[in-house]
Amino acid sequence: MPARNLTANRAALGHRVGYALRHPDRVPRHLARAARDLWLRRRHPDHISYYRAVMRSDTRTDPDAAVGSRSRERWLALGAMQFDYLIGHGLRPEHRMLEIGCGNLRGGWRFIRHLEPGNYHGIDISPDILFAAQDTIVEMSLQKRLPNLTPVRDLTLRFLPDAHFDVVHAHSVFSHSPLPVIEECLAHVGRVLAPGGWFDFTFDRTEGEEHHVLREDFYYRVETLVSLAEKHGLRARFMADWEDLPHGQSKIRVTHGEAGR
Ligand SMILES: C[S@@+](CC[C@H](N)C(=O)[O-])C[C@H]1O[C@@H](n2cnc3c(N)ncnc32)[C@H](O)[C@@H]1O
Repeated sequence: MPARNLTANRAALGHRVGYALRHPDRVPRHLARAARDLWLRRRHPDHISYYRAVMRSDTRTDPDAAVGSRSRERWLALGAMQFDYLIGHGLRPEHRMLEIGCGNLRGGWRFIRHLEPGNYHGIDISPDILFAAQDTIVEMSLQKRLPNLTPVRDLTLRFLPDAHFDVVHAHSVFSHSPLPVIEECLAHVGRVLAPGGWFDFTFDRTEGEEHHVLREDFYYRVETLVSLAEKHGLRARFMADWEDLPHGQSKIRVTHGEAGR
């Protein structure tokens, strides 16, 4: 995996022109995506509806690609990376897990197989990708593990019980989320997190200016996300061991402010 450029502003004209000159073959696809996204943004002014429409369009073409994997091999490898990391950090079968933005269960099917029946809850704003998630349950013969898959309109988590989940996980979700969506999640996740539980999320990290591309990919500084968590009474720490893995995003772990982990 090429080294990450942590200072580039991918939204800046200079960066885009340079990128186009270096990768002329990618320009037609990018332009098509930009045109589609412009059309979808006009039809869906709020971010969640817009991104749900993006997922609908992408899932129709290929659910694995819709969650960011270009091939089944990469889909399997990226799911294994998420799973192995959490196992290394103590995920046990009796734990109750909430996966935010579970997609078509790239990591989820492994969590479902590992956890005791009924202990996995996946939520997503896209009904279309949740239909694909059901296909994954069937494909992996996991019906007896009774996973819960729920479409959501927002991240208030209001239909979930207090202090219930030992592990909350959001992989490649905040990389597609504007700050108010992340803040909504951080404002409510503490309520559903069990004592001693933890919430891991990945994000696209920048050490330069925060920016977004097509309102699909958002780049944040670590300090922004850490202080947002602290604002809501949570403790947040940058997970340096995740940086050793071949993945383009960074990871932050959030715990109850008073308990920590
Ligand atoms: C890149 S995919 C990753 C899916 C899964 N976490 C994985 O690693 O395969 C991002 C997923 O998050 C969902 N998503 C995006 N914003 C969300 C939000 N605010 N609340 C819940 N799900 C969201 C998308 O619909 C999509 O399924």
